[in-house]
Amino acid sequence: MFLTNVFLVLSAAASASAASSWIVPGAAWTSTSGTKIDAHGGMVLKRGDTFYWVGQSASHNEQPYMYTSKDLLNWTPANNPQNSIQYMWRPKMAKPNGSFWIYGQVDRNVQALVSSNIQDGYSVKGSKVTLPPSSYTYSDTGMFMDDDQTWYILTSADHNTVQINRINSDGSIGDRVNYLAKGAYEAPGMFKVNGVYYLIVSGKTGWRSNPNQMFYATSLTGSWNGPYPIAPEAQKTYNSQNTFELTVQGSKRTTYIYMGDSWDSKGGPDSNYVWLPMTVDTGNKKVTLDYHAQWKIDVNTGEVSFPSQKRRYDAAKHATISGRATITQCDYCLSKRGVSNLASDSEVTFRNVTGLGGRQWVQFHYKVQNRMAGEAHVIVNDGPAMNISTLNHRAGYHNIVPVELELQEGLANTITFGMTGSEDAGIVLDGIEVVED
Ligand SMILES: *[C@@H]1O[C@H](CO)[C@@H](O)[C@H](O)[C@H]1NC(C)=O
Ligand SMILES: *[C@@H]1O[C@H](CO)[C@@H](O)[C@H](O)[C@H]1NC(C)=O
Ligand SMILES: *[C@@H]1O[C@H](CO)[C@@H](O)[C@H](O)[C@H]1NC(C)=O
Repeated sequence: MFLTNVFLVLSAAASASAASSWIVPGAAWTSTSGTKIDAHGGMVLKRGDTFYWVGQSASHNEQPYMYTSKDLLNWTPANNPQNSIQYMWRPKMAKPNGSFWIYGQVDRNVQALVSSNIQDGYSVKGSKVTLPPSSYTYSDTGMFMDDDQTWYILTSADHNTVQINRINSDGSIGDRVNYLAKGAYEAPGMFKVNGVYYLIVSGKTGWRSNPNQMFYATSLTGSWNGPYPIAPEAQKTYNSQNTFELTVQGSKRTTYIYMGDSWDSKGGPDSNYVWLPMTVDTGNKKVTLDYHAQWKIDVNTGEVSFPSQKRRYDAAKHATISGRATITQCDYCLSKRGVSNLASDSEVTFRNVTGLGGRQWVQFHYKVQNRMAGEAHVIVNDGPAMNISTLNHRAGYHNIVPVELELQEGLANTITFGMTGSEDAGIVLDGIEVVED
């Protein structure tokens, strides 16, 4: 097992430098072409052994963009499904008949696209429509397929109504089967476990994150119980907003994945993604996002795993420090000592860091007291300073921040941690861990 893992890492690094072996919530995710994945407010649909991810392209006027993957890790850009459509928000896929459909919000109405091929050749189907039964306009499209293969479009309709409408077999938007009118909610997504429907929605706070909530109903037409939290309130859904829930039914277990967007301040191209496995307590009807800085799922077995081969470098022991930074006692640091009092004049430099050659995840273990007082950055092998928060939106919010860096093969790398700002940021650097699996 150990040898197999090492071999896979080495061969992947040699052949495709952009290969990504982990799901890293909040990090900038790169496609197999080396471009930043640009499919926000989207969803993932599995057909055969392939996952198709459609979302809005923030850097191309919110056109629907698609990526394909066999492992939910490595995503290859597909053709742009329909390039005459612009400003289609939160596109979602469905297959209400033999054709493939994309539904998204255009001018607060539903616009449908249809194709005989899941990943290409979509044409605009009909004109934009409002939602039955009250002709509401809406924002925020969601999608759900029930066990009987009937598709439902979820919308954040006007008058603070989250609606569930059936999609008819001719692709048109059918009857409303249920709605939630318990407050100002948007960004709906739904999944089903043991016959119970779990609806996840966000509050309405623009691009800023809020504590998303869960409601459940014991039938599709039943009444909604809730709201219930899915994460500690102060975490604001780990700085994300719901877009879709993906069920991966594996040979050993079924894993439910929360897919959220980690928006930048304008919902622009710097926005990232937060995907996390969920624990579903079916007895108590409780859904909890399981936060992991770095994880993956085996799409065949459904099992979730974490990095097991990491090379650790303690800041207090292995690094050279400069400026006013000092080594202090640190109870939560693995070595019980950390580098603190960091300010813009100080740097922590790790030399002779072993790399595999190519892009590799490096976890920075550090705490921040006051994010407003400073911004941490990383410099690799005399390259440019890169703000860690651009590489991973979880920087400053979580004590393990993985970022993907280009490392040289062997004992050849110098990694420098520094910051812009004052000691008031209260940054304490514990160390770095270079992930090798
Ligand atoms: C699905 O429905 C649409 C609209 O009625 C139709 O154009 C399309 O041919 C149907 N697809 C199949 C494969 O029947
Ligand atoms: C790094 O490696 C070089 C060459 O092997 C060695 O001379 C140097 O002492 C090492 N530096 C550290 C900080 O380990
Ligand atoms: C990094 O962050 C600092 C402080 O917020 C900012 O002034 C600087 O422009 C950022 N640099 C990059 C490359 O984004």
